[in-house]
Amino acid sequence: MKDIGIRIVSTGRAVPKKRLSNDDISQMVDTSDEWITARTGIKNRYICEDESCVSLAIEAARSAINKSSLDIGDIDGVIVATSTSDDALPSVACMVQRALGLKEQIMAFDISAACTGFLYELAIGAGLLQTTSAENLLLIGSEQLSRIVDYTDRGTCILFGDGAGAAIITSGSKGYDQMFWARGERDILCAPGVGQPQQKILMKGTDVFKFAVVVLKQGIDEILSKNDMTMEDVDCVICHQANERIIRHVQKKYPGHEDKFYLNMEEYGNTSAASIPIALDELMESGRLKEGMRLLCVGFGAGLTWSSAILEL
Ligand code: UT7
Repeated sequence: MKDIGIRIVSTGRAVPKKRLSNDDISQMVDTSDEWITARTGIKNRYICEDESCVSLAIEAARSAINKSSLDIGDIDGVIVATSTSDDALPSVACMVQRALGLKEQIMAFDISAACTGFLYELAIGAGLLQTTSAENLLLIGSEQLSRIVDYTDRGTCILFGDGAGAAIITSGSKGYDQMFWARGERDILCAPGVGQPQQKILMKGTDVFKFAVVVLKQGIDEILSKNDMTMEDVDCVICHQANERIIRHVQKKYPGHEDKFYLNMEEYGNTSAASIPIALDELMESGRLKEGMRLLCVGFGAGLTWSSAILEL
């Protein structure tokens, strides 16, 4: 592992008030709680009414700052991973800077890497901590996917939810390493953007499923092998929370280590860039993640993009 360690100072999360159950979705499209639960493990998801991608990002960030011993003035940069920004411009990150009263001498920008976004900003953050004078960076994954979900398409609307997760990182002496992959592929997962007539998510679910089970295992195996480790050396695994069946499929490849894989899509659905930081915050809050533990995160999403990271806490 590289000795350019990063340390997670604190985490936070936010979801909208409105909780949409499988029974609620069954009133909207031809589906059932039984089908959704069996095929995805999802029971609920949260959907914005008064909230937005920006307001969720602000709430998650405020929670992370409140849980740290830092002052507002100690934050030196904000990066937001999102595919569902309120505006094409300005960025969500700039709105967070203003709402929280962060100082002006700060970098604030959004990145686009779909569900892998939080892991991308982890690496960007690690680089910025090394190469700039920034000491504390706020990383946020925030999504208002309900904006781009077609609630007449039962193949996609059952999956997605809105939410945000945040983490403050600083330099540290702990080990950290990360790997990335990208494959330009529009056909199996796409949400057409600004100026396009149809801006809803278009997905070939089975193709995404097949891709996901392969690359999650690849991400885990290659980052472990690169660092001369096995699953024995890892305390907890956070996979992008897309579908319980995807994670169960991968989990089975590591007999004896099944309990290390965290699952929370039952409550949130797939929140894209927010999924890994929401899981991270839950694990931190519950005390399941402790100092000295080794965390493996692995994500995948549209792009196609995928990445895996090992962090010593
Ligand atoms: O962040 C990445 C985002 N995307 C993903 O992670 C998606 C990954 N893929 C999946 O999660 C799964 O492929 C889905 C949950 C989307 C679909 O599950 P599946 O087991 O791959 O089902 P399928 O698409 O093969 O469809 C099987 C049947 C079809 O009916 P027929 O043709 O066999 O009669 C579908 O029309 O299930 C039907 N179906 C549904 N039935 C009830 C599809 N969606 C539904 C539904 N309720 N919501």
